[in-house]
Amino acid sequence: MLRQMKLNKQRIATMTAYDASFARALDNAGIDAVLVGDSLGMVIKGGANTVPVSLDDMVYHSRCVAQGLQSALLIADMPFQSYATPDRALDSAAALLSKGLASMVKLEGAGFVLDAISFLSERDIPVCAHLGLTPQSVLKLGGFKVQGRDMQAAQAIIEQAKQVEQAGAQLLVLECLPSSLAKTITETVGIPTIGIGAGPDCDGQILVCYDALGINSGHRRPRFVKDFLAGNGSIDAAFVQYIREVKSGEFPSLEHGYA
Ligand code: KIV
Repeated sequence: MLRQMKLNKQRIATMTAYDASFARALDNAGIDAVLVGDSLGMVIKGGANTVPVSLDDMVYHSRCVAQGLQSALLIADMPFQSYATPDRALDSAAALLSKGLASMVKLEGAGFVLDAISFLSERDIPVCAHLGLTPQSVLKLGGFKVQGRDMQAAQAIIEQAKQVEQAGAQLLVLECLPSSLAKTITETVGIPTIGIGAGPDCDGQILVCYDALGINSGHRRPRFVKDFLAGNGSIDAAFVQYIREVKSGEFPSLEHGYA
């Protein structure tokens, strides 16, 4: 369905959720897909990054979100090191699908992760890839920084995008990339791209639900975030506006992207 939306040039609206109530509100508002992100390590558990998130955390929250969804696709993040080998990835993905009731799993990166992507895809487990700023690598990256800014780094990410598609990924999240690079990747791959801090030309967009409601738990607000609750009387109305703006292309505007 998401691939058909790309072909039809219909923008894909997605958002994170971690519990049944937010999932229900997003589903009622008409969201296309909900991600149970390992960002829960920060916005739910209050940590500095996503590294300490466990598979049990992800299964628990994925199952909660599943209770609130009727139509939207449920994607669950594979947490840190849960896909370090293909066998481990299969066990982790099986838990997210059978106990967490997810319909797709998301893995960060390329390189050794490509084996895990093909191992899962060959076993009919739908996979979403995630390139650019990959938060589980924050300790190596030295912070939450925009990626792919020089030509060599940009070319490497374009190659990775081709590789994850070749390995069988059905969807690709692009996080914190120059808008022009995300546009090139979106035009290069056949699978839909979902941007966060990647400019207006991805096939769809995602935000962390708390960011979209202006709840920033003490963190500096990144430039790609917009507060959809401001000017709206309810969370339901904020979600409806987010979906409308993503679908129409109004969000994100150039001011939300990186050069
Ligand atoms: O964990 C998460 O919420 C994510 C999104 C920001 C894409 O990976």
